[in-house]
Amino acid sequence: MKSFIASMIAASSLLIAGSAFAVDMPAEGKAKCGSCHAIDKKIVGPSWMDVAKKYKGDKQAADKIAANITKGGSFGWKMGVMTPKGLGASDAEIKKLSAFIVGLAK
Ligand code: HEC
Repeated sequence: MKSFIASMIAASSLLIAGSAFAVDMPAEGKAKCGSCHAIDKKIVGPSWMDVAKKYKGDKQAADKIAANITKGGSFGWKMGVMTPKGLGASDAEIKKLSAFIVGLAK
């Protein structure tokens, strides 16, 4: 019985640790993209995990994604048109967010 309780505690602390490690959108992403994007679900635009999957294995992924965010438009998701640079992201923010999105593919 004692070991059963111990393993329950171990299992639940693993769960807590798991959620603490879950990826969170960087602050600039929340401010400038979060009204249309989430990491793991569609809103107005595709989930960033789906975008990461689309580019998986592409060595130029971060550059291509950054270029698309900068020019805006449609990228084949059939969800509409994205406003260039989202809600006013700077080039540096776009670069950081592109790298973040690519990193979600692991
Ligand atoms: C007004 C809503 C809106 C905002 C704000 C917005 N997006 Fe989008 N985004 C979209 C839509 C809609 C699409 C899908 C277009 C399509 O159907 O192809 C999209 C697509 C994308 C894609 C997919 C590109 C590809 O190559 O497939 C990425 C990456 C992306 N957005 C990143 C961002 C980032 C980063 C920001 C913030 C700087 C942002 N978006 C802000 C609406 C938005």
